[in-house]
Amino acid sequence: MKKRLLYIFALSFFGLAIAALIAFYDVSKENNKPAMAVVADNFGGAFNLTNQSGEAVTEKDFEGQYRLIYFGFTYCPAICPTELQKISAALNMLNEKGDKIQPIFISIDPERDTVDVMREYVKLFHSRLIGLTGTVEQAKAAADAYKIYYAKAKDDTMHEYTMDHSSFIYFIDPEDNLLRIFKTEDTSEDIKNFINTIL
Ligand code: NI
Repeated sequence: MKKRLLYIFALSFFGLAIAALIAFYDVSKENNKPAMAVVADNFGGAFNLTNQSGEAVTEKDFEGQYRLIYFGFTYCPAICPTELQKISAALNMLNEKGDKIQPIFISIDPERDTVDVMREYVKLFHSRLIGLTGTVEQAKAAADAYKIYYAKAKDDTMHEYTMDHSSFIYFIDPEDNLLRIFKTEDTSEDIKNFINTIL
């Protein structure tokens, strides 16, 4: 009889312990919800640029928006067009979710990427792609704010110069958190899949 009581007591204690564990797990899961991995918070900075319609644009115009930002140049023979196509394809695959994301292309070669050149260029990729350019100083300030390396380089196959530059697609949330950096090895599927985990 005594043994049986002890057994019941042990069993209910065990049951309580499990219930407490489950409750704790649920609470910690709940608490972890907003703690999403962020590459960098407060990413980017101030810039003054001109869009493909000739309008002045600053970082404030994109506040509160999800953004996919790519820095490059329109004369880029391969990498820039490939990356911009990836952005476009990912947004199209995301359908209505894609509509919540602003794609932005920022020139690091403003001497050749005039407003007119940018206007024709962004059309090739996505109807909502915003192309930003400016003076040499303005483009430099924007690239610095987003930690983009670039430099003029001699191109032996052409009379003109080419540009060496970082190739990063930044995914930034409405609070300016950098959520992910997509590199050249990432595909449009990778971009789509990641965004699907966020939106
Ligand atoms: Ni490029």
